[in-house]
Order: sequence, then structure tokens, then C-alpha cells
Amino acid sequence: MLNGTTFTALHKTPLAKAFASLALAAALLSAAPVMAAEAPGKVISSKLGLPWPAVIGHRGASFDAPEETIASYTLARDLGADYLEMDIQRTKDGVLIALHDDKLGRTTNIAEVFPERAKDPVSTFTLAELKQLDAGSWFNKAYPDRARPGYVGLKILTLEEVMAIADGGANKPGLYVETKVPAQFPGIEADVRKVLEKGGWLSQRPAAAKGHVSVASTPGRVILQTFEKPSLELLQKEMPNVPKILLLWIGDGYMEAKSNVAYKDSGYKDYASFYAAQEVKSPAEFEAWLDWAKTHGANGIGPASKLTHGGDQSYMDMMKPWMTKMAHDKGLVIHPYTVDDPVDFKALKAQGADGFFTNRASVLLKFYGRPSKDSIDTILKRNGY
Ligand code: G3P
Ligand code: CA
Repeated sequence: MLNGTTFTALHKTPLAKAFASLALAAALLSAAPVMAAEAPGKVISSKLGLPWPAVIGHRGASFDAPEETIASYTLARDLGADYLEMDIQRTKDGVLIALHDDKLGRTTNIAEVFPERAKDPVSTFTLAELKQLDAGSWFNKAYPDRARPGYVGLKILTLEEVMAIADGGANKPGLYVETKVPAQFPGIEADVRKVLEKGGWLSQRPAAAKGHVSVASTPGRVILQTFEKPSLELLQKEMPNVPKILLLWIGDGYMEAKSNVAYKDSGYKDYASFYAAQEVKSPAEFEAWLDWAKTHGANGIGPASKLTHGGDQSYMDMMKPWMTKMAHDKGLVIHPYTVDDPVDFKALKAQGADGFFTNRASVLLKFYGRPSKDSIDTILKRNGY
């Protein structure tokens, strides 16, 4: 340490002055906090006008309420999810609806209402027919611990109805719209554009009141997503200015796998173990998909992910660090699906996730340090469930 006399003496010559200035600068620099570089996905998201990190309510808040129903979407909205996620299909009479499966057996009472047509595709039913179905009771049977009498008789929703839900609360989430099995619905990309346009979702929307989610007022108010390359091309043609995500999968006509052994011949006893063993053929194959996605309008990827505790949402690991680095280096945002457990939020965040598709928006919001002020039970009761 310098004492006062030495310090004064040192300042008597120009060289000494320069030395003292350098010493002072070094001391100041070492005392300053180290500035962390911004996460690459944060920079990319910000350029696109997307929230970071993003909480994407997968089929609404579908852990706690029947997927893609009003109970599920109002819960996700009121918890504070950034996006309501939905799978879009089209009825026989041309109406866009939010429904995941292309058959009705898992999530409705089709077998009671139209027994002879129980295995027919969604596309063969009119909206009036679909509106006769109960899309809530299956949940009470499947998950008795989360069952509620108010779920009985819930209806399949149209895209317009989901848009109204997004707009109907104090929080104003965005829409994360997937074209589901689009090969069954020629022209569905243009239909999506027309419905979004009519509802005012392709132009500026007012901001939410202070302190509420306001994604619907940002350039990222709608994100379009698809697993299918032809659909991405059509979405880009119809809505070139709307952010897009190519969902990723290994095998079955998607990214080529290292091994082509089918599940039934693999010896694995469950799909999660089988998927966990699937690997992309090569880094070049992975890179070719990213390059194709980018060239055809994608701003990001939605990779499948392997979950710590397995289960029926655990797929192949497409979140390996070299993969996420490659995607970020190419300027692509990364939203993996479908993740509900803090163990996985932590691990995948460290690997580069810029948000998650989640059935449990409440858990993810807590993980990101912005928990809902109301409990799930309070919100459900307030909304009539
Ligand atoms: O859309 C992201 C994720 O939802 C993809 O899986 O089958 O739930 O639509 P899926
Ligand atoms: Ca989906």
C-alpha cells in the first residue's frame, strides 16, 4: 500500500503521473462489478420482440384443467403465462378449432354421442357436432385428484374463442399457434391468417394495464409453430412478419436418426426410454434442419427434450449444449417442449432454453421469480370451476 508521502513524491514527474493514473484505473476496474455477457437467447428474443424467458401455457394450464378448454386457458391467462398455446385443426364446415388429437376418443365423450363415428377424424365433424361433445369429463376420470365438477361439459373451442379469452382478462397474453396435422387441412395457413387478421391480432394492440402481462401488445403477440416443413413455408408466405418456430423431432420423416430400429423392435419397455436413446444422425443433419428452418422463415426452434424423471412427455434430447449453441449462433430462439418440473427447468435453462412450453405455468412462473399472486384454486374458483 502507498503512504501519503510516497504518493506525493511519485506525482512529481510526468512518468510518475502516468504510472499513478494507470494504477488508479486498475484499482477502479478491479473494484467494479464484473458485467456478465447477455444471454444469447435474450438478445435474439429482444430483437424479435419476444418475451424472455417465455412462459408458454401448453394447451393452457393443462396440468390443472382439461386441455384447450376455457377453464385451462383462463387459468393460464390469469396465472400470468406469456402465451396461450394451441393446436389448430379445421371442422368439416371450415371453422378453425383448438384441439390436439386428430381423433376425439381421448379428450371427449365421442363414443357416447356419435358411437359409429368414434374413430373418425376431427375433420369429418361440423362445428355444431363438435359442440355437442363433453371435452372436460375425461380429465376428471384421468386425474381424480385434480377433478372439479365445473369441468363436466366443457366445450371444444374455436380459435376465435381462444382469442377472446386471451383478450378477456387483465393479463393480455399472446397466442402461440400450431398448425396440427396440416396435411389434413389444405389451406389452413391462409385460414389462420384470416382469423387472426379479422380479430386484430396481426396489427398493433393496446397495452395491458401496468403490472399485467402485455405480450399481446408487442411484435411477438403471435408466434406460429409447426413440425411440418411445407406448413412453415405456407405460414411464411401468409404471414411473413409474424415470428415462427419449427418444432423438432428425430425419426419418422423428421430429422434422420442414427439408428432406424422401431420402438416395437427396440426392446425398450416404455417410450421415454426408447426416445432417450434416439440421436440425430450427425451434427450436419441437425445443422441442415436449422439452416432450412432459418431460410424458410423460422426465427427459432422448438426442440423435443428428455426429462429427468421420464414420463410420457419425455422425448429425445435435442437440447444438448452443442445443439443449443449452434441454434443461438444462427440467431434462433429456443423453446423446448413440454417441461413441467423445476429440475428440468434448471437443467435446460443452463443448456440454453429461452423459455418453455409447460402444462404448469404456475410452477414455471415461480421458477422464473414472478409467481402468480393468486393460487390455482383461487383462480379456478373465481372463474367458476
Ligand atoms: O407445440 C409444442 C408442443 O406442443 C409440441 O407437442 O404434441 O403437444 O403439440 P404437442
Ligand atoms: Ca402443440
